Amino acid sequence: MYNEKVMEHFMNPHNAGEMENPDAVGNYGSPVCGDMMEISLKIENNVIVDAKFKTFGCGSAIASSSVATDMIMGKTLEEALELTNKNFIDELGGLPGPKIHCSVLAEQAVRHAIYDYAQKHGLELEGLKDFDPNKDFDHDDEGCEV
Ligand code: FES
Repeated sequence: MYNEKVMEHFMNPHNAGEMENPDAVGNYGSPVCGDMMEISLKIENNVIVDAKFKTFGCGSAIASSSVATDMIMGKTLEEALELTNKNFIDELGGLPGPKIHCSVLAEQAVRHAIYDYAQKHGLELEGLKDFDPNKDFDHDDEGCEV
């Protein structure tokens, strides 16, 4: 069901674990499958210099967290906000249809973390213009087949 690259990120995830004194933390979960993601960031001069994740979820959610944290590191906050779950899926070489929503969790956890930082520092980021921190995972919108 999973390709080799997804399996590699699932078996040996990058950036998994705790971060001491993160500058920002984002949590997001799917009430449908019960999976949860937490992404912690270190940010210097508007650039994400470190990212860690903790994910309670399926292989696809773990692989998505792994590539998402890899891809946002070294990016400015605005550049990181431009990344979507489609970028994470492409980086993984594809995900099976019913597992697409797992990558949405990673996208949203990243947005929540950057929103947390923006709130703490009074930043107005263009990429957060339409972001609603209170919006729950929309099962139907995400084409989730769980
Ligand atoms: Fe829900 Fe993967 S995150 S099944």
